[in-house]
Amino acid sequence: MTIQNIPGISALPISEFVSHRNKFFNQMADNSVAFFSAANEVTRSNDTEFAFCQNKNFYYLTGFNEPDAMLLLIKAAGEQQSILFSLPKDKMHEIWHGRRIGQEKACQQYQLDQCFTLDEKNERVAKYLAGIDKVYFSFNDEKMSATVFSFLASVRAKSRQGLKAPAHVCDASPIIDDLRLIKSANEIELMRQVNYISGLAHQRAMQKTSAGVFEYQIENEILHEFTRHGARYAAYATIVAGGDNANILHYTNNDAPLVNNELLLIDAGGELSGYAADITRTFPVSGKFTEPQKTLYQLVLTAKSRVITAIKPGVTFAQLNDIANESLTTGLFELEILSGDLDELIKDKACKKYFIHGLGHWLGLDVHDVGDYQTNENREQQRAFSPGMTLTIEPGLYMPLDDISIAEQWRGIGIRIEDNIVVTEQGYENLTANSPETVADIEALMAAKK
Ligand code: GLY
Ligand code: MN
Ligand code: MN
Repeated sequence: MTIQNIPGISALPISEFVSHRNKFFNQMADNSVAFFSAANEVTRSNDTEFAFCQNKNFYYLTGFNEPDAMLLLIKAAGEQQSILFSLPKDKMHEIWHGRRIGQEKACQQYQLDQCFTLDEKNERVAKYLAGIDKVYFSFNDEKMSATVFSFLASVRAKSRQGLKAPAHVCDASPIIDDLRLIKSANEIELMRQVNYISGLAHQRAMQKTSAGVFEYQIENEILHEFTRHGARYAAYATIVAGGDNANILHYTNNDAPLVNNELLLIDAGGELSGYAADITRTFPVSGKFTEPQKTLYQLVLTAKSRVITAIKPGVTFAQLNDIANESLTTGLFELEILSGDLDELIKDKACKKYFIHGLGHWLGLDVHDVGDYQTNENREQQRAFSPGMTLTIEPGLYMPLDDISIAEQWRGIGIRIEDNIVVTEQGYENLTANSPETVADIEALMAAKK
């Protein structure tokens, strides 16, 4: 696969963001206005900031990557207008902190109808809202919510001058969540690329691993490989967990030295033009699995393969969970890690004692992407898959070192194997094609150390 992304440049054409806006417009009521806010910069300490990460809904609708901006979508009088308010050009600020695109260029580059500076916001928004019936914003965005209600109050304050304020507010989240859930061909191609890049990083991690190396040193090998191929940031905090650390699900300390005869679990994915990969591989520090490690590893790998093979339109996470449960519970029973009546064990989902997290989740602009799972009262995720949905499949088994109820040979082993899948008309495509996963492939790659 060739990686076409140019480092630092959005790989999605602007027409893609225009198409996202049009899809949102189609869902809006007549005579309504929708508000979306950009993210703000976040202080790390004193006067230093974390790397900026754009609000994903705002990005989905604009592709615009500056902080503090606000997007208005107006659907009224048979017309649709996209209006951006953003930070002004400011020579001194730009010399110190970086360039801003300004309003004129933003309008052209992002194919917006009008762009204004943020300080024009209050006056203009009050005018846009006059006579409008309904406003949309994400109810879980507290700051946006406060801003919208203050806009509404300012229109109401002018009612004596004949201005009519919108009487209805509507949550934009379910609408945009459903749009984001189905990926376009362009988005899928980006996710294919970021998976490929992340696969290269997992390969490099396998080749750089040996006893005595610190987990954070492997983390940096991964981050370097991401950036070498244009994925500037990791999509989430990279997990490099040697031995028993793998039994901490969101382990990110990454500060321990690697130990021979232990496994190393790496959960790492790059972000490319905002889109995430989320891949986990588990392999032996020494380059050779011990027998107990191999046995449990094979069990998880078989469960993953069985689950993925079943993916096609119409299938649900609930059905996939049944396949994972049957596969893992049977395997654990055969290894005498679980005991009792097998049918009862499967009915009771007995593997969950060792498989302590969900089987997978939606993936996209967010690593745990938006989209309703349609979970019922039994906590079964009933949403039927459709082509264009992207998701992870990530079975695991976790046997903590201090759990004396487990036979000693299994203790301290934590395994997760995680792939990224796109649902297609025919079934599925596994985007995680170049991250080695079989025992033979892993051992061969690690033997050819760099
Ligand atoms: N990397 C987080 C997850 O696998 O869900
Ligand atoms: Mn995941
Ligand atoms: Mn993961």
